[in-house]
Amino acid sequence: MATILDGKAVSAAVKQEVKTEVEALKQKGISVGLAVIIVGDNPASRTYVNNKKKACAEAGIVSEEYALPESTTQAELLGLIDTLNKKDSIHGILCQLPLPKHLDEKAVIAAINPEKDVDAFHAVNVGHIMIGDYSFLPCTPAGIMEMLKYYNIPVAGKECVVIGRSNIVGKPMAMLLLQQNGTVTVCHSKTVHLAAVTARADILVAAVGIPKFVTADMVKDGAVVIDVGMDRDENGKLCGDVDFDAVAPKAAFITPVPGGVGPMTIATLLKNTVTAARKVCEKEL
Ligand code: GUN
Repeated sequence: MATILDGKAVSAAVKQEVKTEVEALKQKGISVGLAVIIVGDNPASRTYVNNKKKACAEAGIVSEEYALPESTTQAELLGLIDTLNKKDSIHGILCQLPLPKHLDEKAVIAAINPEKDVDAFHAVNVGHIMIGDYSFLPCTPAGIMEMLKYYNIPVAGKECVVIGRSNIVGKPMAMLLLQQNGTVTVCHSKTVHLAAVTARADILVAAVGIPKFVTADMVKDGAVVIDVGMDRDENGKLCGDVDFDAVAPKAAFITPVPGGVGPMTIATLLKNTVTAARKVCEKEL
């Protein structure tokens, strides 16, 4: 039976470090501030935003919520981002995705000042990640790397397979594993013989958004299985992209849902927000 990778415990350690740094910045006269924008009433987004705000409060970061109606226009949203880009008390800007269909997500991300882009979604920050020279970490992938480090799980030389190629998780995850000298394969909906590829993985990351998509036959004995999914099963119960009950007996390590990757994403967001504030502080000195 696999060892459970406890995202709650690891994130608590990271959050404590963040809290200490937030206090140190306070001593220098800087109150760390994060703006959180949510448009419409997507229930999953509401839950994520509430969790992010709660974590900010626990770490001493001031979060300002901008909850906009579904009917918000592109111009209104870009206007808000422009205001926040110029607001000195705000060090980080997060616009919760997905946005309602009539809004242009790419243009919204491009409008955020890269120095306040604590999600690391802006093309400038994505470019930094590609060349391995970055200050903002991609939240979910970096949280996963932090968890691997905490449990002393080596990446160098390992077969790493990522299922999913999103800009938020799949692509930056592949980059971070590659930087740690993993041999990385990215799979997606057009991958042929998916199970044969995933069965090679020493480290398997599932980020597909399909409940219990990864079944036991797709997993190698002794693999490290990371589940990024936040899905609902046939009974409406929260579950991941991995069929946990079937896969856990085969794996060496596995993340649960909830309590695995999710808390690590938030911990990285807090880290990035403090980094943004620290950079402002360094500029002023
Ligand atoms: N939607 C799903 N994950 C994320 C995330 O990490 N950041 C933002 N802004 N939106 C998301």
